[in-house]
Amino acid sequence: MEADFHHPSSPLQGLDSTLATIFAVILWNLNLHGYQFEVPGIALGHGKSLTILIWHWPFHHPPNLSTDVCADLYRMKGCQLTVDHRLFSQADVVVFHHRELQLGKARLPKEKRPPGQKWVWVTLESPTNTKGLARWHQTFNWVMTYRRDSDIFMPYGELVPNSANPDIPNKTGLVSWVISNYHHRQRRAEVYRDLSRHLRVDMYGKASHKPLCPDCLLPTTSRYKFYLAFENSIHQDYITEKLWRNALLAGSVPVVLGPPRAAYEMFIPADSFIHVEDFSSMKELAGFLKTMNSSRYQAFFEWRKRYGVKLYTDWRERFCTICTRYPHLNQEQIYLDLESWFSA
Ligand SMILES: *[C@@H]1O[C@H](CO)[C@@H](O)[C@H](O)[C@H]1NC(C)=O
Ligand SMILES: *[C@@H]1O[C@H](CO)[C@@H](O)[C@H](O)[C@H]1NC(C)=O
Repeated sequence: MEADFHHPSSPLQGLDSTLATIFAVILWNLNLHGYQFEVPGIALGHGKSLTILIWHWPFHHPPNLSTDVCADLYRMKGCQLTVDHRLFSQADVVVFHHRELQLGKARLPKEKRPPGQKWVWVTLESPTNTKGLARWHQTFNWVMTYRRDSDIFMPYGELVPNSANPDIPNKTGLVSWVISNYHHRQRRAEVYRDLSRHLRVDMYGKASHKPLCPDCLLPTTSRYKFYLAFENSIHQDYITEKLWRNALLAGSVPVVLGPPRAAYEMFIPADSFIHVEDFSSMKELAGFLKTMNSSRYQAFFEWRKRYGVKLYTDWRERFCTICTRYPHLNQEQIYLDLESWFSA
């Protein structure tokens, strides 16, 4: 049986986005430069191993990369990750994580870019939390983000075929929400205040003075029937671990606030979640949650008969993915205006 949602990592999806990229770049070439373009998508010589230089490991010190981590951990062959700047001149791809560029902890290489070397810009944050993009016009060839139209698409999670799922956890509460940074004026705070006038929401996390240890989060949210998977800002495809881990993996039905329902349906089945926009008021949403009977509730978990949740959390896995995408990416591309692309 085919899935009733558009599986984000299906080969067809990859083709779609490759074609879209090619098309966009063709238009861009014709419009702005008028120069010749080659048909992209031809792999480098067969069997050639790729060297991916991570210019600054995201957030922390790099893990040990002395072994062939892509092959050993993720069964991706011919893909060498390194953080050694001395390999700059021979790297096929150099990866720049936005946060360290924004903070000035990393600067672009001083040396000239070797011919054929591709630069990748990476962020998993939303545009609201990504500053200083105007500096990077005409710098990066490819982008790696949670957006489906990225050259290297890197979601926070996905559903993968899997028949053996654990039982739905027993429930003792109705709605929970884990929130570390509560800003009064954010949309998610407004919706929470409105909703909590009509039903009880149990809040956890730093903002509520009930912080959860890393291993306590899932056991806590899983005890509730519903989880408020409210994103901190609302942007195209910006769907984070709040959905994948805190709700779906925990076995709590997500009540989502984020991009429109149709965007979620590209990732998960339409009947697996509740969207805040499905209701004309929070009073109505509260009524729906409070009066739901058991058979209606069970129906939200139909997907678990066929799928499991895979979280993407390891930067090594994300960077290894660059190698599998590499042969399909446009070698001629450059982002003239990264800021416009990202804030679109
Ligand atoms: C739920 O509770 C029942 C009855 O107390 C128990 O038998 C069952 O194992 C529990 N299920 C889970 C998934 O914890
Ligand atoms: C449970 O709720 C659904 C939807 O509101 C309704 O169609 C169904 O008849 C109800 N089932 C029972 C057993 O009450």
